Amino acid sequence: MTHLAVIGCGYVGGVSAACFAELGHTVDCIDVDAERIAIYNTGRSPIFEPGLDPLIERGLSNGRLRFMSSYPDALDAEIVFIAVNTPGSHEGAADLRWVRDAVSSVSSRLRPNSIIVNKSTVPIGTGDLVEGMARRSGDGVISVVSNPEFLREGSAVKDFMNPDRVVLGSNDTCAMERVAALYAPLGAQVQCVDIRTAEMIKYASNAFLATKISFINEIAAICESLGADVKEVARGMGMDARIGGQFLSAGLGWGGSCFPKDVRALAHMAAVHGTHPQLLRSVIEINNDQRLRTVQKIRTAVGGQLDGRRILILGAAFKADTDDIRNSPALELANLLAFEGAEVAIHDPVVPAARIKDQAPQVQVAASIEDGAIGAHALVLATDWTQFLEFDFSTVRALVASPVFVDARNCMDSKSVRRAGFDYFCIGRPSLQLSASTIDPGPGELVLSGSVGS
Ligand code: UDX
Ligand code: UDX
Repeated sequence: MTHLAVIGCGYVGGVSAACFAELGHTVDCIDVDAERIAIYNTGRSPIFEPGLDPLIERGLSNGRLRFMSSYPDALDAEIVFIAVNTPGSHEGAADLRWVRDAVSSVSSRLRPNSIIVNKSTVPIGTGDLVEGMARRSGDGVISVVSNPEFLREGSAVKDFMNPDRVVLGSNDTCAMERVAALYAPLGAQVQCVDIRTAEMIKYASNAFLATKISFINEIAAICESLGADVKEVARGMGMDARIGGQFLSAGLGWGGSCFPKDVRALAHMAAVHGTHPQLLRSVIEINNDQRLRTVQKIRTAVGGQLDGRRILILGAAFKADTDDIRNSPALELANLLAFEGAEVAIHDPVVPAARIKDQAPQVQVAASIEDGAIGAHALVLATDWTQFLEFDFSTVRALVASPVFVDARNCMDSKSVRRAGFDYFCIGRPSLQLSASTIDPGPGELVLSGSVGS
């Protein structure tokens, strides 16, 4: 087995280190966030990621995982993965300062014939920069390989252990073979290309997935005006193997630490290198509009104005099964509603209240759905947590000021919401937008109450 190191133990580095240890490798995990490292050393993960804790605990107890918050004088690892964050700057360029810090710290500590692997999403061409830095500050010959990750938060361990493909980019074939060998037990197809192509595969993949979502969100808006059901449209489209049914769920749009950063970074790279990224800019614009369309839907549902209305938002995380609120559409929605004078409360089953208050200081955090429903003029489902899908909303019907339920993720069963006594609103499915009092009509009959309670 191989001695590895991972620099940056966040949602990607932490999962990668734990999975490599599970595959039998020894992994030195280095992160400047001493608090995160301290939690890892208790055998738990500092991030909410299903299935990660047992891997951390096992890796610690069998000695394959070692967590430290500073660099040792020398790194014995043969292969070092860089997974530090690469936040976007305001005009969209990716900020590489942490990558530079990590590479210069590592290069001077590595043995000759070691390999630096870039796992963080970095602008096309960064691998060449890293190679130059490694050559200058490391006295041995150090190879550089780009190995972008395709992990989804909430299923990152499963995605790591069951990759659709492993992408490697380098000028050094032997280095790529050594990195490919780490993934051999997973049995995935391995694509070996040059560094820039590997870096582009990551950006193009994320940008395409975001494009699929913005596409179906535009179709949802058209369905809303023409009376079609976008969920059934997506189902019909998805049966075509060339299209595929995933990433065609219309709703509040995409968020998180990757899509917003990566689509903007790719558009920025295109623009500064002389091409005009019309499609990417439209994908971003449609996504921003999705929040505004949802505000409009809520405003209509509560009687035409939001000032003074109390709204409970169900969910703060950018998607279910994660505690990550980076670029969360739910929090963006909360801020937009508050901006119009609404009194906004948020309940999330996992995200700590303090983290929510940091990003949306003017919202109240409700400890439970019941607490948040008291006096609410609308309940808005913004994150598709199972806890919400399984909740019996009839138990809070008597608490709300008006029985309005806006399903901004199209994930609730409209009939059960109506049976619970709520008028149901959703995205791009006009035939399902019905008041609680409606006996299910045939297709085409559209009844909206949206009446505001006393
Ligand atoms: C990171 C990159 O941000 C992203 O571009 C890439 O697609 C995947 O890897 P993520 O793991 O979500 O994403 O980032 P984050 O959870 O912020 O973890 C990064 C870790 O690096 C943090 O724990 C941070 O403390 C650490 N770090 C940062 C270092 O150890 N050293 C540094 O110099 C900077
Ligand atoms: C994404 C990519 O999927 C992953 O391959 C890459 O490595 C990192 O970025 P992640 O951001 O963790 O993963 O979550 P993902 O499941 O892709 O969802 C991203 C956003 O799109 C979320 O806000 C989600 O709610 C939204 N989404 C997803 C939709 O709105 N509709 C969909 O059909 C799917």
